[in-house]
Amino acid sequence: MAVPDRSGRAREEKDVRAISTSTSTVSVGIHDISTATGHYALPLETLAAQHGIDPQKFLVGIGQEAMSLPAEDEDPVTLAASAAAPILARHGAENIRTVLFATETGVDQSTAAGVYVHSLLGLPRTARTVELKQACYSGTAALQFAASLVARDPSQQVLVIASDIARYALDSGGEPTQGAGAVAMLVAADPAVLELDPFSGVYTRDIPDFWRPNYLSTALVDGKLSIRAYIDALTGAWRDYREHGGRAFEDLATICYHQPFTKMAVKAHVALAEVAGQPVEKDVAAAQLADTLHYNRLIGNSYTASMYYGLASLLDHREDLAGQAVGLASYGSGSVSEFFSGTVRDGYRSHGRAAETRAGIEAREVIDYARYRELHEREVPVDGGEHELPRVTRAPFRLAGYSGHRRLYERNA
Ligand code: HMG
Repeated sequence: MAVPDRSGRAREEKDVRAISTSTSTVSVGIHDISTATGHYALPLETLAAQHGIDPQKFLVGIGQEAMSLPAEDEDPVTLAASAAAPILARHGAENIRTVLFATETGVDQSTAAGVYVHSLLGLPRTARTVELKQACYSGTAALQFAASLVARDPSQQVLVIASDIARYALDSGGEPTQGAGAVAMLVAADPAVLELDPFSGVYTRDIPDFWRPNYLSTALVDGKLSIRAYIDALTGAWRDYREHGGRAFEDLATICYHQPFTKMAVKAHVALAEVAGQPVEKDVAAAQLADTLHYNRLIGNSYTASMYYGLASLLDHREDLAGQAVGLASYGSGSVSEFFSGTVRDGYRSHGRAAETRAGIEAREVIDYARYRELHEREVPVDGGEHELPRVTRAPFRLAGYSGHRRLYERNA
């Protein structure tokens, strides 16, 4: 606050200038990125066989091989805590002043899911924690808000976690595009992995392409409309990005897109390239994005975490990105989109977690259709009674059960 004195106005202006100078010189971005996925996997060939569909429709048509599913004792909170724990093991928690939890499958209408994660991870009490929601987009809002907090005070770090379980009704059109996963990111000054550009492009349009009323546990979607809405919002955000000082299309080494299914990223890239005046054929687009698609092809849609799984895939599969700019194309139905970018830092490979991410994906238990259906049909008990859950997950945290309408979490023994 400015101190009033005879030259109060002049001092206020000087203070504002000092703040803007200090923020513009701080490099802020992703210092560490870590992932977690569900315990089970359903190969899409199994789903295709059950529905009498040519498996190539899933493998090639939508570009998906499998989808992750949570164990009975996993939920978005346990996935989030499992993704974040390795970050804390590497960097400690003492500088974390904020926890931003992005999800559209939150577990409570009142308490932020991040509060349970904060407790499971033993984070300092001197931190603020909040949940953000806007379909698959809110992880990006969290990242941008985190960057602003760090720019204001570079001594602080922010833990951003995007965690979701994508569920559609059995036998519905959306069924092959389910999935589960979490990505945690430590946002800090002088980041080791990706320095964020200060400019971005944004877009909001009220459109009924995908939504989930409070009383439903599965999402509703108009599939064809959702694809058009995604492309419309993304190209809108791209135009805004360029008008706000964004980089030229050809200056981006590649782009990580939100991936409800990997073929969607390819469709979006073809559309964006056209708008940017650099048209590409489908197969060229697929080759340009290939490094960003590996993980999502295996885990399916992880909503808020999906684009960040794409970023993790890129960093783990490309060795030559140091000093190069990458684009990030975020979309959340309903709809909000943001296009932004950043520069990959020198030495990023030595901070990577490729082995951990691959191990998490490979460790999944592959299940058959009957088991998948049984898991899908399970509902959260609503009677407020005591319910112990079977011990299934091998992840570091689990949902032990329910008691008096409360979820009971624990460290996995
Ligand atoms: P559908 O009707 O089952 O599939 O819906 P289709 O008939 O449109 O076929 C899909 C593709 O497979 C087509 O390719 C076919 O040609 C091809 P395209 O023409 O699109 O390039 N195909 C084959 N290819 C090879 N061999 C074959 C074969 N047969 C067909 N034999 C849809 C697909 C994705 C719409 C459906 O699964 C769905 O509704 N999913 C959920 C919605 C969704 O993921 N929308 C994406 C955009 S919205 C978004 O990203 C936000 C979201 O993440 C939510 C949030 O923000 O929170 C969803």
